[in-house]
Amino acid sequence: MAEKISVLISEEEVAKRIREIAEQISKDYEGKQVHMICILKGGVFFMTELSKHVTVPCSLDFMAISSYGDETVSSGRMKFSKDLDNSIEGKDVLVVEDIIDSGNTLHYLTGMLQQRKPNSIRLCTLLDKPSRREVEVSVDYTGFTIPDAFVVGYGLDYQQRYRNLPYIGVVEL
Ligand code: IMP
Ligand code: MG
Repeated sequence: MAEKISVLISEEEVAKRIREIAEQISKDYEGKQVHMICILKGGVFFMTELSKHVTVPCSLDFMAISSYGDETVSSGRMKFSKDLDNSIEGKDVLVVEDIIDSGNTLHYLTGMLQQRKPNSIRLCTLLDKPSRREVEVSVDYTGFTIPDAFVVGYGLDYQQRYRNLPYIGVVEL
């Protein structure tokens, strides 16, 4: 069944904002190498686009963890299904997420990554829904702060669909 999707953030706005964040990251990591970790699957569109515009040396890795089933509300349970390929010890890690909602995923993940002794960890998210936060997470780079709506596109899914939309849309259920 096809849901009705209305545009919240256009393709052009997303592209422009990602370039601005990449510019900021390039300044902040001057003289260093940034090791980007994408949280699959949602973060993949954002990380690839972001990394294309970062001008400092950059390496990429991927991990899969989720707290969601096919529901639009967090189940609170973590599913950890793919670990990183490379060690992060001594590296300047930038975790790249699609969206921060309750904060549970990133809270859990950064705690776990910290134990692997990186030189630094920063967080970068395309979208933030601060009104739904359950645990505090300190976010270093945010694309857009959005109201409490269920969004899709640019990596974000509703029942595994709509990740490939080039814009951010709201699902009208
Ligand atoms: P958190 O642990 O509650 O912060 O959940 C973060 C994860 O929930 C994200 O990485 C998304 O996969 C998913 N999520 C949260 N809000 C939305 C939404 O509006 N649309 C699609 N996925 C979402
Ligand atoms: Mg996700």
